Amino acid sequence: MEFSIKNGNPEKQRVDCVIVGVFEGRKLTEAAKCLDEASNKAISAVLKSGDMDGKLNATVTLHQVSGVASARVMLVGLGKQAEFAERQYRQVVRAAVKALPKGVASASFFLSEIAIKKANTQTKAAQLVEVVMDTTYQVNAIKAKKAEPKVLTKIAIYVDKSENTQAEAGVKHGLAISVGVSLAKDLGNLPPNICTPTYLGEQAKKLAKQYGFKVEVLDKAEIVKLGMGSFLGVAQGSVEPPRLIVLQHLKGKKSQKPVALVGKGITFDTGGISLKPGADMDEMKYDMCGAASVLGTFKAIGEMGLAINAVGIIPTCENMPDAGAIKPGDILTSMSGQTIEILNTDAEGRLILCDALTYAERFEPSAVVDIATLTGACVIALGHHPSGLFSNKDALAHELLAAGEMAHDRAWHMPLWEEFQSQLDSNFADMANIGGRAGGSITAACFLSRYAKKYDWAHLDIAGTAWKSGKEKGGTGRPVPLLTTFLVQRALKVK
Ligand code: BES
Ligand code: MN
Ligand code: ZN
Repeated sequence: MEFSIKNGNPEKQRVDCVIVGVFEGRKLTEAAKCLDEASNKAISAVLKSGDMDGKLNATVTLHQVSGVASARVMLVGLGKQAEFAERQYRQVVRAAVKALPKGVASASFFLSEIAIKKANTQTKAAQLVEVVMDTTYQVNAIKAKKAEPKVLTKIAIYVDKSENTQAEAGVKHGLAISVGVSLAKDLGNLPPNICTPTYLGEQAKKLAKQYGFKVEVLDKAEIVKLGMGSFLGVAQGSVEPPRLIVLQHLKGKKSQKPVALVGKGITFDTGGISLKPGADMDEMKYDMCGAASVLGTFKAIGEMGLAINAVGIIPTCENMPDAGAIKPGDILTSMSGQTIEILNTDAEGRLILCDALTYAERFEPSAVVDIATLTGACVIALGHHPSGLFSNKDALAHELLAAGEMAHDRAWHMPLWEEFQSQLDSNFADMANIGGRAGGSITAACFLSRYAKKYDWAHLDIAGTAWKSGKEKGGTGRPVPLLTTFLVQRALKVK
């Protein structure tokens, strides 16, 4: 997709479709007024006919409007003017893109000129790019017949001339986030027989080469040397060898402590010996979406050349049932020295993350954020809109919540109270790997907190937000926008 910033009147543009907004009550925006004047009130006539009333997300497409150079005009409903905010703006852009007729290759948006409280032109341009890229994303499906190439390839965003620089910056920013989101979606959508731990390691190396990151991909022997008994316990049931991926983007001052992102990379989660039920088990290929969001965020900050030091740590393996697999009752010794009684082999995410969290200590990070499709309980608690956020430091939690709001990729703050910790008590080891059904996403976070005592730490449970089920099955690329925005805001602060 090609995005450009333009100035001028809508009736004079020669593209396949110009898109203008109408508020509820048939209230024309400035651009819609221009078209109305040029077309001898053709727009007003459509509104009067009752075909379009300005209701939020309603669309109507007109062809060959006299006095208008473009072949089509799309009117899109903006809803009540007093309620028009960033959220509505994003919805409207999405509705317009979805309603574009198949033959449209070039479209001009006259929506970013509309005033929105608290959103400047840069934000509006960035959001438009992100929504268009998200809406037009195509799965790289593995089908004998190749997908037809996209027709829509050119998007122009119209703004006031005085705002050109801001808008250009917005497009750049939005594109960087979008390519990160697309990468996270692609990796999530790949089948688990292709997207293996080895494959993820190769993708990390490819990114490193492209953006100049430092990269290490540790193999099993090196993971053994580190003493990651918990991570290796999960990996031992699979014929796919595990990998520990370490990426470093070092664009901040030498003295600046890095932010570490730790992503769960279970490339397939069968549950292990505590086997999952069969229904929808294919979706457990998405159990590496935490890892995918780390790689996607690195792609985004690589594109931006963001002035920050960041480390990405990805423990990745499969969770399989096997004669050699771990079983309930086994006790593993983690890299930290703490021992873990396995009561359920399906609670494997925490087992690979705990060793990665211990490994993160060597970077003396200013903060560590882990991202994981960790618990079904989080989906029950919060549904599919927010990611679950847990932290041992309120200031860090608030930074992440604010970043989520800004990026329209929200999280919800969950408790990490001491009272929950005793659910992990074990008679045979330092802790059990599960804490019962009550507050399942919280006790999972409590488990991780025991390995994150040496730094400010937050945990994002993305089990409900990383992919969609049903007809629209596919990765969402979340929480790449949240994480990237968090790093961008941090980079501004440390400057
Ligand atoms: N990967 C799953 C969590 C999950 C489940 C994500 C459903 C998305 C949808 C995780 O490894 C898991 O199996 N968790 C168990 C933990 C339980 C055994 C304590 C769960 O949530 O059932
Ligand atoms: Mn599991
Ligand atoms: Zn899992």
